Amino acid sequence: MAAHRIVPCIWLDDQAAAAAAGAALEPPRWKRAMPTSADAIIGLYERHADAWDRGRAAALTLERGWIERFVARLPAGGSVLDLGCGSGQPIARDLLERGFAVVGIDASPTLVARCRSRFPSAEWFVADMRTPSIDRRFDGLIAWDSLFHLGLEDQRAMFTTFRAHAAPGAVLLFTTGPEHGVAMGAFEGEPLFHASLAPSEYRALLAAHGFRVLAHVADDPACGRHTVWLAQREEREGGV
Ligand SMILES: C[S@@+](CC[C@H](N)C(=O)[O-])C[C@H]1O[C@@H](n2cnc3c(N)ncnc32)[C@H](O)[C@@H]1O
Repeated sequence: MAAHRIVPCIWLDDQAAAAAAGAALEPPRWKRAMPTSADAIIGLYERHADAWDRGRAAALTLERGWIERFVARLPAGGSVLDLGCGSGQPIARDLLERGFAVVGIDASPTLVARCRSRFPSAEWFVADMRTPSIDRRFDGLIAWDSLFHLGLEDQRAMFTTFRAHAAPGAVLLFTTGPEHGVAMGAFEGEPLFHASLAPSEYRALLAAHGFRVLAHVADDPACGRHTVWLAQREEREGGV
């Protein structure tokens, strides 16, 4: 992450985050302000797409262990939906090299154009991950360092999206913050919004949408202190 000049952020509760942001806001005003911050993310990555692409390694580094666990559960040649795919590397690149069929979506047209020129065999869409408009189910779903840029309500709603796009037995890999709250970092000198639900709420959402947690590590020291979730959809329809 340091390569992308993302200032490390501390996970704070909403009140503390408001105070840290210098905003003597009463909680309701702060909560109303949150979606604006999350929406600003889309423009931010588009403005700094070149910087993001330059800074992101082409080959897996700290994600390797989690990607290995994810692919171990996929059928050979299976399909993967990469939500918030960025520049298509290292994650989609690695999946394509392993023979999986990748569909990537990202809100940044410049990053999606980069994916298309690099990996023409895959399918790439400029879309908001909150409304992906892809009427297909996949063997695997990834939201690596993208879900945490959404507001809390949007994150809750994403579990319906995950479920709608997950084939029975599909594997789901995503990152979050380690605890409930909002954290402001910075990228290329601009404020970078992150938010996280509590681990207990992610567990409840996964269960309610028919996913079983396979592995979860908060602040994984083997993965640059990412908080990572690996889950699998039940083989039979269930949940909400
Ligand atoms: C930290 S980058 C991670 C990119 C990629 N997953 C990776 O690991 O390299 C976050 C990505 O999420 C994308 N993103 C953020 N909010 C989004 C949204 N609402 N819909 C689609 N993409 C979004 C950004 O454009 C950016 O490419």
